[in-house]
Amino acid sequence: MNVLKNEILNLLKENSSLAGVNIGSVLERPPDRTKGDYALACFSLGKALKQPPNKIAEEIASRLKPSGLIASIRAEGGYVNFRADPVKLLPLVIKQIIADKEKYGTSSVGEGKTIIIDYSSPNIAKPMGIGHLRSTVIGNALYKIFSELGYKCIGINYLGDWGTQFGMLIADYKENKEKYSEFNSAFLSERYVAFNERAKTQPELLEKAREEFKKLESMDSENMEIWNRFRALSIKEFQHIYKLIGVGFDDYSGESAVTNIHEVIALIENKGLCEISEGALIVNLEGYKTLPCLLKKSDGATLYAARDIAAAIGRHDKYKFHKSIYVVGADQKLHFRQFFKVLELMGYDWAKDCVHVEFGLVRLSGEKMSTRQGKTIMLEEVLNEAINKSKQIIEERPKELSDKTASVNTEEIAKAVGIGAIIFNDLKNKRTRDVDFNWEHILSFDGESGPYLQYTHTRLASLLEKAKHAGYNTENSLPVKTELLAADEEISLAKLLNEFPETLEKSAENYEPSILSNYLLELSSVFNRFYRFHKVINDSDKDLSNARIALVRSLKYVMAKGLRLLGINPLEKM
Ligand code: ARG
Repeated sequence: MNVLKNEILNLLKENSSLAGVNIGSVLERPPDRTKGDYALACFSLGKALKQPPNKIAEEIASRLKPSGLIASIRAEGGYVNFRADPVKLLPLVIKQIIADKEKYGTSSVGEGKTIIIDYSSPNIAKPMGIGHLRSTVIGNALYKIFSELGYKCIGINYLGDWGTQFGMLIADYKENKEKYSEFNSAFLSERYVAFNERAKTQPELLEKAREEFKKLESMDSENMEIWNRFRALSIKEFQHIYKLIGVGFDDYSGESAVTNIHEVIALIENKGLCEISEGALIVNLEGYKTLPCLLKKSDGATLYAARDIAAAIGRHDKYKFHKSIYVVGADQKLHFRQFFKVLELMGYDWAKDCVHVEFGLVRLSGEKMSTRQGKTIMLEEVLNEAINKSKQIIEERPKELSDKTASVNTEEIAKAVGIGAIIFNDLKNKRTRDVDFNWEHILSFDGESGPYLQYTHTRLASLLEKAKHAGYNTENSLPVKTELLAADEEISLAKLLNEFPETLEKSAENYEPSILSNYLLELSSVFNRFYRFHKVINDSDKDLSNARIALVRSLKYVMAKGLRLLGINPLEKM
């Protein structure tokens, strides 16, 4: 727990008229840091206390006396602003981090709770899309952040590996075996598109596809074997990508593994929730101003929503989850609203613990980047291009930026920088916002980018390396005279470091890795400002050097951990 915030909370609990108010939720970090380090927003309290917010703020401020870590308390425009006493806060923060090392920020708030994270979940027989990459990256970051807070995470890759489209592919395969001598997922998706095209003038093809899917659903061995080949090939391609970006899953059970589906559909029917509409089995959600949830087609084939309902029930039976989150594009909002509602109507109170963690599109110079329609963008090519471009940039950089003396492995560095750049681009903005895919911004070393953070981390590393060579103890220089760290940037850095643990908590609470990524950007920018104006190693002032080395050491722990939690591999050298 943040020591400063804790003291403010205690002070408020003991000395204000806020009994019964969840103070933690109204105590925030003011956007304008010149106002204070924490601010109590009195606006939402106004109603309950029947007073204007500025009056409440003044009242509270007048009752409180600064003490301990708190240097000043002032009311301003409906806020009570609290400011820390840096002389007291700094040594606490630095001591804590040097003692905890990479464990700083780790907590046990989630102990005993399971979080299911459904992420990536691409569709087989199609190349993985750029949207699935975004899901993979966001889901992976959330997995790591929640795990760091003590939750048990189960990462599920819910492959889209079932549905009538496989009836079409099997029908096509059986008629055109010679064309399938060697193939990849891009080929399969082209065949699928072409089949649909042909079916427009030859509707009997659809009948054939339905039959093939029916046979697949009844486990016909020939169809199962064809389907299995398509599936295995797709998974192999996906795993190339997962390996490149360093992501794994606990469970690969996709839609085909949902075996309780007929049971669940019967249960929904027995609860009197179903209707037949144009031959299809649906749950009417008119009363909730929502389009109907489709369970079965008129030919009896089960649908996506029905499988998700059955899968959710299966997940709850198996894991008794605290939360079950679905990291899926905002274009599926309706689908999640529908099936969550059906779970609720079925009487499952845990339906409220299912969360659609939605995210925006990836746009290539303003257009939707898509693997459908015409131009297919192959993800693996995009990732390899990021690595190659990074390599070029690293090799062409001015001398002073690169460490040519050390044995640096350019391949490995280019991979960490290139992949890190792509990952960071997906995580730097609020997830619901669309992402602009722009190579120049993604790979820029001085913008708000992955390479910029990597570069800051290597700066921290090389500073410590230099200090070590100069004979300083860089691993544990304590005790140091932290009172010497009195420059604005130093105080800001210590305050930011103090906020790291709650940054992780907030990222988790809001399912929002961007809270962490923006924190790291802020940390980098303050450090780089500090570095511009101050010398860390200065032999004529060893005490100051030691104090600054301890600060840099602390920064490096937090920076490295933050990057790792986002799925980015921090580098020692570039
Ligand atoms: N395979 C789906 C798609 O690509 C995403 C699945 C997301 N997860 C889920 N439980 N529906 O659109």
